[in-house]
Order: sequence, then structure tokens, then C-alpha cells
Amino acid sequence: MSSLPYRAVLRLFKSNFLQRWLKRLSFTERADLLIKFWRSAERHQDVEGRFKLIQEAFNRQRMGTLSLVSSNEYGRAYGFFDLVGSLRGVEGDIVECGVGRGISFAYLVYAVALHKLDKTVYGFDSFAGFPPATAQDVGSRVKEANRPPEGWTETSPAMIKAIFDHDLPLRDSLIAAHPVNYKLIPGFFDQSLPGNLPPKIALLHADADMYPSTMAILTHGIPRMASGGVVIFDEYHEERWPGVRKAVEEVCVPKGLQVEYFEKMRRYGLRIP
Ligand SMILES: C[S@@+](CC[C@H](N)C(=O)[O-])C[C@H]1O[C@@H](n2cnc3c(N)ncnc32)[C@H](O)[C@@H]1O
Repeated sequence: MSSLPYRAVLRLFKSNFLQRWLKRLSFTERADLLIKFWRSAERHQDVEGRFKLIQEAFNRQRMGTLSLVSSNEYGRAYGFFDLVGSLRGVEGDIVECGVGRGISFAYLVYAVALHKLDKTVYGFDSFAGFPPATAQDVGSRVKEANRPPEGWTETSPAMIKAIFDHDLPLRDSLIAAHPVNYKLIPGFFDQSLPGNLPPKIALLHADADMYPSTMAILTHGIPRMASGGVVIFDEYHEERWPGVRKAVEEVCVPKGLQVEYFEKMRRYGLRIP
């Protein structure tokens, strides 16, 4: 597939037959497809053009609830690739809190490979769903406190590892050309973060939806942020997850840290002075 001209691949993606076929693929098969797109796009010389092609591909796919790539994903993928590249000179590793089924974790690992950085990518998740909600989380998505919201139980470190294991032996694999050290650490953050975070963090991706989770991420993560490092909040702007903004305001405002909009990520975050 990666040897086909890119325009022809995109035309294929528009066809109904292919759309039906995509819906039957497993997560790993979809991951493989995305990886092939990356490898193929890699052949293009200019970075903007490369990501435009990926954006087009993402736009065409619309693969349903278990989708690896949906229409709003392309902005984030582009953002991660760009942001990780900009952190070359910043001390420390890359940390994601809230791995889920590994979509953004894969972006981070592939971005490190693409930019040939010497940074480890850490992924923290319970791999067993959310902790109990608090009163700060209650809104349109979370209806009651003291119970874990539904979702995100169908994942595991093995499932995430399979994305990369599958790609490693393939010809032209980005991560074979530049092996990336990554770690998946299971457990709820209040237990898993204290002993397992790296000493310095260049990029902290907070994607855990909830107040207690974001509080734990910020409490343990902010003191380890390197100067020039970046924290990205996946849900700061999301009304259905009100606990994220509350936690950010409680922890960051007193420290004088200003939340700003990261245009290419389409997300809010912090830049550490
Ligand atoms: C929205 S999903 C992450 C999606 C993923 N970053 C992506 O973009 O593909 C949120 C994840 O955070 C995890 N999570 C939330 N709170 C947590 C906590 N306190 N400790 C461990 N994991 C937590 C959930 O298990 C879930 O997998």
C-alpha cells in the first residue's frame, strides 16, 4: 500500500467498499493502516505537505466508535508531531497520563521517531477505566459523584504494545529506523505516578477527563516539568468534563502559570517558564 501513489490511496479511501471494509478491521489492523500512512507520508519532503496528506486521509476515514482516526483527530496528530519536534532542546522525557486505547500515545512515540529524539515516552493509565467521580466532575457526561464513569475498560498495555510490535519488522518502519524507548505503567495515578515519573518532563499530556485524575497529574507532574516544557490538557475546553478546568485553575493559577491556546494542537495548555 505504501508504494501506491498517495492520491490513488486517498481516492480508494473515499469509496464505499473501502469504508465498509474499514469498519470490520480490528484496532490493530487500523493502527497498521495509520502507520502505513505515516510511512508513506514520510516520503514527502516538506513537513506541511506531509501533514496535509495525513489530514486528508483522516478526514476521509470516519471509522466509528473504535476508530483510530476520526475527523477531529488530524489536528491533534499534526499538533503532536509539530510540538514534539519543537521540544528537541528541552530537557526531559515525554509523559502521557490517560493512554486509553493508545491513539495519542502512538502519535507521541511516532513523533519521537520521526524527529529522532532521545526521549522516553511514558504512558500512565489504570487500563481498567476511571476512578470514582467527584462533585467537581458532575455535568452532562458524569451524572453522579462517588461512582466511576463508564468507559475505557477495554484496553491493556499488551494491546498498545501490539501497535508497535506489529510495525517494527516492517520495511521502512519509522520506529525500526529510530527505535523509541517507551514504558506503559498501569495503575491509578495517585499510586502509579509518584514512583514512576521520570525526573524531568519535557511534554506532559494530561488526557484523563476528570478532576481527581487531573489533580494527581498536576500535583506530581508540575514539579518535574523542565524549563521550556509544555503541558497539554485534552479536555480543558470540554464542558462535559468540567473537573479538568477546575483542577487546572486550582493548581496552576496560584503558581502563576498561564493557560494558553496551542493553535496547532487545538488544545489548551501551559508553557513552563
Ligand atoms: C480519554 S481516555 C485517553 C485517550 C487517549 N489519550 C487518546 O487520545 O487516545 C482517558 C483515560 O484516562 C484513564 N484515567 C482517567 N483517570 C485515571 C486515573 N486517576 N488513573 C489512571 N488512569 C486514569 C482512563 O482509564 C482512560 O483510559
